Amino acid sequence: MEQANGSDSKSPSEVALSYDSHSSDVLSKLPRREFLSQDLVLYRNYWFYSHFLKSTIMLLQDRFQAHPDDAILASNPKCGTTWLMALAFTIKNRFRYNIGNHPLLTHHPQQLVPFLEFPLNTNTTSVETLSSPRLLATHMPISLLPESIGSQGCRIIYICRDPKDAFVSSWHFNQRVFGHEIDLDKAFNLFCEGSWLYGPFWNHCLEFWEESIARPNMVLFLKYEEVMSDPLKYVKRIATFLGVPFSSEEQDGGVPEEVVKLCSFKMLSGLQVNQTGELSRNQNGDMVYEKSAYFRSGKVGDWVNHMSKEMGSRLDHIMKEKLQGSGLTF
Ligand code: A3P
Repeated sequence: MEQANGSDSKSPSEVALSYDSHSSDVLSKLPRREFLSQDLVLYRNYWFYSHFLKSTIMLLQDRFQAHPDDAILASNPKCGTTWLMALAFTIKNRFRYNIGNHPLLTHHPQQLVPFLEFPLNTNTTSVETLSSPRLLATHMPISLLPESIGSQGCRIIYICRDPKDAFVSSWHFNQRVFGHEIDLDKAFNLFCEGSWLYGPFWNHCLEFWEESIARPNMVLFLKYEEVMSDPLKYVKRIATFLGVPFSSEEQDGGVPEEVVKLCSFKMLSGLQVNQTGELSRNQNGDMVYEKSAYFRSGKVGDWVNHMSKEMGSRLDHIMKEKLQGSGLTF
């Protein structure tokens, strides 16, 4: 599909200055397309739910003030955000909590690391009320993050994943959220066209990838598959990147191993707190986010159980073409 160009030449802060009246005007002019049960609009080259764009993204760009010691956990949806939240939270707060009475045993990881773009219009704790140093999550593309994140020099950890697994995970997740079946082929075509929530998937990865090459001390780029194959190595890398490396005493005492175990899929998915109840729902209740929906199979390569080989090759081919010359591969 030839993608409509929804980018406009104004900077995010210019657009956000008078978001109440201006954002409605901007919104009405954006390209729109049907997506699962809701429409998506194309804003500055990325697709978003229209209600969400006005009430959160523009508002966020207008109001959010980063602190220099904020750490941002960024991702495309279904690429391991919840896992990264658990890991980063545990690593950063390891001097405050024992494993025996750790907040992860009684809270869903998404309750411990607030999303930048969600608390603004929900009753979740507002990020503004959190004390520094803050750990915040986002699905926003780097080009749409509030400017102060860059100007304050905040560290960003980005996690991405083989798009075939990310797509399958997203398809399952959306069926849970919307509470009805979603045609796999139809959804796959949308994904391949780039018309996916926070998509195109490849642009999202590519922007963070390029930033991680340009500013390796500011952006740490992780792949779900690599973390899965050697979690201990990446737990240590995350700690160092966040400025809280494990001491030799901690390493001798097996602290990094404890972090890996506490945050493992097996441990977190087995906890009662992550098995029942809702995390949130939208205002009219037609999108319900259950806690258990964030823990499905936690495997690499599960796409083969849902997609044909041909579908896999098609997506691989698209990714190869879109990422050509960047050095980023899946
Ligand atoms: P699957 O649907 O393939 O199982 P996100 O947190 O970005 O929404 O991503 C969700 C995906 O990460 C789901 O993938 C989920 O099962 C997996 N996941 C959640 N917690 C995990 C953990 N602790 N370790 C590994 N994978 C995890």
